[in-house]
Amino acid sequence: MARHLITSALPYINGIKHLGNLVGSQLPADLFARYRRARGDEVLFLCATDEHGTPAELAAAKAGQPVAEYCAELHEVQARLSEGYRLSFDHFGRSSGPHNHHLTQHFAGRLDAAGLIAEVETMQMYSPTDGRFLPDRYIEGTCPNCGFESARGDQCDNCTKQLDPTDLIYPHSTISGATDLELRPTKHLFLRQSLMRERLREWITTRQHWPVLTTSIALKWLDDGEGLQDRGITRDLDWGIPVMKGDAPWPGMEGKVFYVWFDAPIEYIACAREWVDAGKGEDWERWWRTDKGADDVRYTQFMGKDNVPFHSLSFPVTILGSGEPWKLVDYIKSFNYLNYDGGQFSTSRGRGVFMDQALSILPADYWRWWLLSHAPETADAEFTWENFQASVNKDLADVLGNLASRVTKFARARLGETVPEGGAWGERERAFVADLAARIRTYESHMDAIEVRRAATELRAIWALGNEYLQQAAPWSTIKADPEQAAMQARLGLNLVALYAELSAPFIPDAAGTLRAAMHTEPGWPDDVEAALTRLAPGDAYDVPENLFRKISDEECADWKTRFAGVRD
Ligand code: MF3
Ligand code: ZN
Repeated sequence: MARHLITSALPYINGIKHLGNLVGSQLPADLFARYRRARGDEVLFLCATDEHGTPAELAAAKAGQPVAEYCAELHEVQARLSEGYRLSFDHFGRSSGPHNHHLTQHFAGRLDAAGLIAEVETMQMYSPTDGRFLPDRYIEGTCPNCGFESARGDQCDNCTKQLDPTDLIYPHSTISGATDLELRPTKHLFLRQSLMRERLREWITTRQHWPVLTTSIALKWLDDGEGLQDRGITRDLDWGIPVMKGDAPWPGMEGKVFYVWFDAPIEYIACAREWVDAGKGEDWERWWRTDKGADDVRYTQFMGKDNVPFHSLSFPVTILGSGEPWKLVDYIKSFNYLNYDGGQFSTSRGRGVFMDQALSILPADYWRWWLLSHAPETADAEFTWENFQASVNKDLADVLGNLASRVTKFARARLGETVPEGGAWGERERAFVADLAARIRTYESHMDAIEVRRAATELRAIWALGNEYLQQAAPWSTIKADPEQAAMQARLGLNLVALYAELSAPFIPDAAGTLRAAMHTEPGWPDDVEAALTRLAPGDAYDVPENLFRKISDEECADWKTRFAGVRD
């Protein structure tokens, strides 16, 4: 039995995610996890909220809550939404948990011992009024470029110029408004990634069949400009993981915390320990330690393209640099961006459709299907309401939904309460089943390769093939002349519904569940397509499923379009 460790990039804690975030990591990761489980593999699928950093502190301040309380609350909100979208995480953890604290400090100690950490003195803005150093985003002032009065210390939101806090005119603290800021020397830790450059290059270039998007971004960062830069891994914040060398204090680093991008990926490991603590598993090491069995594990990570440098370079430096037998990622599946109706989705500006809003208008499967079948794999993709309406109405309602309802209603109305008997398959059936089997093997190969869009296209073709077959066989017309044949075809049709439930389950798990319940079948992958199509035998019970999918009307579409055109507060 193959073993798959699967992680999705950890969503930031600072608010509800939009559909672009969902399709960039969590949703395709779930598709793959569900598929691997359906194929009989052992899967550990992990995700967590990414809870540290300035965005978390700022969001908590905006909500008027202590940051720990804010994070606990938003974690619950995100966990409920994950359930709403049927994201089948084995555990949904928190990067602020004790295991991540401990592991992060452990890795820092190991990296330091290996000579991979430099202590660097930098000059930084200090606010005597606030009694602390201020991160760039906690300083605002007038932009020297355009005169905008609330430019941030890292960037001007008006003219987009990248700034240094010292560039600002009249800089002040966003915490207290204090203007008596002064530059003071302070020490920070840097991860000496550049020392590992050739080792990383060797590792990246020998990975088999990584997506072009992943490898090109990784190599660009490895070689761009002066090449891989060393990274500051500490910050002057209250909220975060205190800088320590393992269990020992780190002289000169009192009051500082690790940079969120240093501790967040370590949560992938810590999350497996949380999974054990939650009583959902027994042995996390056999997933994460190559000396404890994890060398048999295939580890796949899912993420948006902006996350690739951290996962292909920085986190591997942490893992390799530790000198310990941790499992390294085998395959990084990355995604481009999903745009929204002629512009970008934006969390900070509240533009687009957010996870809670989408579920309030339609069930998860509608979104899962559209998002996955339009996943931004080879290029950026765009969500439009018209396209969403067309896909749902055509693929889900007209093709899959129609097939299920037509076959079951016909059989129930004309051929009795149970699966009808009829004769043996004819020429038409044998040809159809052969075509279907070939398409199913193609579908599997796309799913194996995590080619999400291609897999969706093939699944849609599989549904359409069944519709065409029934259209041509038309048992509802031939039943008078040849009731035996009509019964046989209806029986095949009912089996087809059961087969579609299995094939479709990774994409649309709720509809698959409804179909299974109607056909009285248990989950099982159709390794042998012919056998799968004779699973329901004459006399077996079945029900007519309730309307699987409803159509989206033009009025609804127009209404949603205006409702979600603006900006969410
Ligand atoms: N929170 C980050 C983002 O949304 C992703 C973190 S992935 C990590 O871009 F696991 F590495 F933390
Ligand atoms: Zn400006």
